[in-house]
Amino acid sequence: MRSATEAIFARSCKVIPGGVNSPVRSFKGLGLTPLIVESGFGDTIRDVDGKEYIDYCCSWGPLILGHAHPTIVRAAQEQIAKGSSFGIATAIEETFASKLVSLIPSLEKIRFVSSGTEATMTALRLARGYTGRSKIVKFIGHYHGHSDSLLVQAGSGVSFLNPIATSKGVHSNLIADTICLPFNDFVALRTFFRSPVAKQVAAVIVEPIAGNMGVVPPLEGFLESLREETAKVGALLIFDEVITGFRVGLTGAQGLYSIDPDLTCLGKIIGGGFPAAAVGGKAPIMDALAPLGQVYQAGTLSGNSVAMRAGLETILQVANDPTFYERLEQKTLHLARPIEEALAYTKLTACLQRCGSMLTLFFGVSQVRSKEQLDEERFAHFFRHLFDRGIYIPPASQEAWFVSAAHTDVHLDYTARVIADYLTTEK
Ligand SMILES: Cc1ncc(COP(=O)(O)O)c(C=O)c1O
Repeated sequence: MRSATEAIFARSCKVIPGGVNSPVRSFKGLGLTPLIVESGFGDTIRDVDGKEYIDYCCSWGPLILGHAHPTIVRAAQEQIAKGSSFGIATAIEETFASKLVSLIPSLEKIRFVSSGTEATMTALRLARGYTGRSKIVKFIGHYHGHSDSLLVQAGSGVSFLNPIATSKGVHSNLIADTICLPFNDFVALRTFFRSPVAKQVAAVIVEPIAGNMGVVPPLEGFLESLREETAKVGALLIFDEVITGFRVGLTGAQGLYSIDPDLTCLGKIIGGGFPAAAVGGKAPIMDALAPLGQVYQAGTLSGNSVAMRAGLETILQVANDPTFYERLEQKTLHLARPIEEALAYTKLTACLQRCGSMLTLFFGVSQVRSKEQLDEERFAHFFRHLFDRGIYIPPASQEAWFVSAAHTDVHLDYTARVIADYLTTEK
């Protein structure tokens, strides 16, 4: 029985479009009333009916330490008591910026904003302002927030000069300069960068490990090719590490693959569960931002004190513990290994793809390298199966699941068993 959930959702639908403040929370296509959460602690969330779920969404990635981590709670409470927002520079912004710059070698300067969308939007404007060029390249299936020129998909690699908006309200003029290429496709990349239009490209933006079409790591050499091709034509390379930053290690995907991007977008984990994100990179590029340069960017809540304190404490927790990522990897393997074993026996077409503590179980395909059509009906059935048993994964088929440091072995074992049973008994 989910009577409180049903009642709140019905009332929400009257005052909030679709009853939710972000569409993917709506459980669209899943045949269930969405979750209405009341609280979270560690690896568990509790809904308004008192039912508990082991959470593998973790607020879509930020909660690498789990819900309501005592150190983060204390830091945020301390800061709120001193004032939550000033719209004036604070020392904590410098402390946090210096910490991030010291951890990620490609960052020389950093500007804080409040969301990943703002970070990528700022990175593009900066790239265009700095290079004086108009075109940007993104990859099909990669999501970089909802600013107009990034809300674009395209058909096949050959139609890369004919972008199609993924949302109504995005006028064709606003996406005319956005070019979409298939991820992990060396031929499409080379073909594009040999075309005359490549010299008009201000920047290529990429999720270095894709998370928004499910977890799809780059093929060996793909990011290197991207770095080479962009450098050759004088375009900037922007790594959107809003998910991967501090998720796959202290130096993000760029550290994992030894790539030196020109600009990096961070978000999610650096806010410690509060709204903070950032764009950072080489000093001469970053200095093109106002007030030094002529690329305008601003924000009432940018560098918000509570978000900075929570973010800094989160980064200190992961950075000061030399075994943090190793232990997180072990936890994730605890979940992933039994699923992989079950996949060897399943009659379903499915595969598990993983990088560090981000993973996706795909249905309808046996491997994903680029954007794919998945078996949505099967996913919906699988989601409901888990949900009924107190396990919450992101409510969409092409999303990353996240394991946090708070996930207990007991919960990971239980989840692995439920999934392995599903895979070996369903036809
Ligand atoms: C890779 C990536 N970039 C940017 C964004 C946008 O971030 P936000 O939702 O904070 O605006 C997201 C959000 O999921 C993301 O996954």
